[in-house]
Amino acid sequence: MSEDLWPPHALDDPEVDTPPVSSTSGGVTLIIPTFNESANVAELLRQLCACLPATPPCEVLFVDDSTDDTPAAIEKAAADCPFPVDVLHRDSPSGGLGGAVVEGIARAGSDWIVVMDADLQHPPQLVPTLVGEGDRTGADLVVASRYLPGGSRAGLAGGYRVAVSRGATWLAKGLFPRALRGISDPMSGFFAMRRRAVTADALRPLGYKILLELAVRCRPQKTAEVPFVFQDRFAGESKSTAREGLRFLTHLAALRSASPLARMIGFGLIGLSGFVPNLLALWLLTHAGMHYLAAEVVANQAGVLWNFLLIETLLFRDRRRHRHWADRVGRFALLANADLLLRIPLIALFVGRFGLEVLPATALALVTTFVLRFAATEALVYLPRGPRAAARTRTTTRS
Ligand code: GDD
Ligand code: MN
Repeated sequence: MSEDLWPPHALDDPEVDTPPVSSTSGGVTLIIPTFNESANVAELLRQLCACLPATPPCEVLFVDDSTDDTPAAIEKAAADCPFPVDVLHRDSPSGGLGGAVVEGIARAGSDWIVVMDADLQHPPQLVPTLVGEGDRTGADLVVASRYLPGGSRAGLAGGYRVAVSRGATWLAKGLFPRALRGISDPMSGFFAMRRRAVTADALRPLGYKILLELAVRCRPQKTAEVPFVFQDRFAGESKSTAREGLRFLTHLAALRSASPLARMIGFGLIGLSGFVPNLLALWLLTHAGMHYLAAEVVANQAGVLWNFLLIETLLFRDRRRHRHWADRVGRFALLANADLLLRIPLIALFVGRFGLEVLPATALALVTTFVLRFAATEALVYLPRGPRAAARTRTTTRS
């Protein structure tokens, strides 16, 4: 790759407020997550040696969760490299692939961070192009995209995986039209980002989609894209499982419900979905011979349980550690049933005191108790107790 793809960098940008751990300010830190990639790392480093220019300075940081001899293989291959190669081996690998990348970002002090896979599905030759494109256009984030003309997903095995990947892309873009504007491939794991554009206080990636996390939480001002061909794996096999799909959906929900208003809408939608198990249980119980009033009370608990499970996994994932689960179920159920009890006197009040018709009074009571229940659930079930609990609940990774 020619030198002119690397225009000079502005050194010592005063806006960079994070203490650089590495000393290559002005340079590029390549963050490469590895999980049992011992058969790939030597070839990867060989290709990187062949294509990375001497300036600006580059360094490679492997964030490794392997159970095989990947760290040793890296160290052996690194001996021939003209640039620094570090391995950060994590004995307790929290957060999987995304967690590994976040740990790498926290340690990187260069102007540019490039994230790429270790299995050569991401062509190393594109690294200078990504950074060069960012310098040329002033973009904070440059994504290697499979969906631009010239790009392709040749290495994505099977029609099933292609369809899943496409569906996931549409879903993410539909949920985050603004944050992902100009990013045709938000599922890409290959991108360059300016260190100073990583502005989120805390990154909480869940699973594979670290680019999504960065684009949505940090909202880089300007983005650019470069096409790339997603190649076949050089060796070994993919570490992604069906469970990743579920994690992806949970991740989307967590990102989407980061603001209070969005959380309230989510709370309402989940509440509506609770009618299904509620009515189903009512039907089962009355058919089994239970008196309909008793059945109403029991069936309501089915709806409450359903709501609780969805709210726990989708809305308040990060905020549930400070209370035992039994404590949370108890409080949640109490509030949900209090909501029912409160509604009747409230309707009576609206009709009797304020002269409202029954229908608008009922609608108003529904909305009032809903907002109250949302506020109370957030405050009494999921708000951390005291500053120490709050600190524990927050992810401590500084970005
Ligand atoms: N440290 C660490 N910890 N690394 C991991 C872990 C983990 O738990 N799981 C996977 N990795 C590493 C792998 O060793 C590899 O270098 C890289 O992350 C990607 O893993 P693959 O298993 O090869 O993923 P893939 O090919 O299915 O998915 C790729 O394509 C997706 C788009 O379709 C990745 O590039 C994804 O980031 C990308 O979203
Ligand atoms: Mn791969």
